[in-house]
Amino acid sequence: MNMDPFSFIVAILVYVAVIVFVAGMTFKIIVWAKSPRMKINLGIYPKPRNGFVRFFRIIRDSFIFPQTLEVDRWMWVFAMLFHAALFVALFGHFRLVREFTFVSNVIGQDNLNTLGAVGGGTMGIIMLIALGYYLFRRFASPYKDISVPEDFILIILLAGIVGLGDHMRFFGAVHTEDYREYFQSIMRFKPAFNEALAQSQTRWVLSWHVLFVNLFVIYFPFSKLVHLIGTFFANKVRSE
Ligand code: HEM
Repeated sequence: MNMDPFSFIVAILVYVAVIVFVAGMTFKIIVWAKSPRMKINLGIYPKPRNGFVRFFRIIRDSFIFPQTLEVDRWMWVFAMLFHAALFVALFGHFRLVREFTFVSNVIGQDNLNTLGAVGGGTMGIIMLIALGYYLFRRFASPYKDISVPEDFILIILLAGIVGLGDHMRFFGAVHTEDYREYFQSIMRFKPAFNEALAQSQTRWVLSWHVLFVNLFVIYFPFSKLVHLIGTFFANKVRSE
């Protein structure tokens, strides 16, 4: 197995996290679907002219959040940066599932690794700066007075994930293939480190990164972040 007990528990927690996430989200969606429909129309003026405009508005409000831009310009800038960088970084994580051979065949393996290092590193730094802003903002009025512990817990969990991910990106002593073998071992229900990871201190950073991800994923369905799903319904209601 080649794994220390801590890393093994973290790997097992991945399965728990997936189960809790799927069950939690299903439960949330069932509760929403069952809640009685409001008789009153909550749409915001002006009413969209037709179905196409309405669809466009729901997509715009969900992805560009113009409401935030109106209220807090800096928050909007950092939120856009954070979500865009998150999207790119998560896309990059698919290399852990399968190598992007469609890219390496065109630009070569070395260039793909450089692209990953520069792109991943840049996204990681952008996310860290944005999270710094999210945190800093909560210490200033008026947000200071309306912040609850959950707001801080979520930022700290995310900062943990991103900080540890960046640490691997900038100081990691193993190769993408080694991380991939680890990830695939979890997907095959046989968690293990290969020789390179078992010998390297990087395994601790990796396990802590995955531990923070697990905690975040377990908490997600019960946190305010379920807005990821809820936002589409809310924006649909606003456009009625
Ligand atoms: C079980 C799930 C995950 C695993 C196994 C994992 C693994 C890794 C690994 C191995 C790296 C280093 C990449 C390299 O240096 O070649 C990394 C980097 C990173 N991870 Fe994750 N990760 C997971 C989930 C996440 C999630 C959910 C987020 C964001 C919320 C995240 C954010 C980052 C960031 C920002 C970096 C640094 C920038 C980059 O290389 O893209 N990770 N992760």
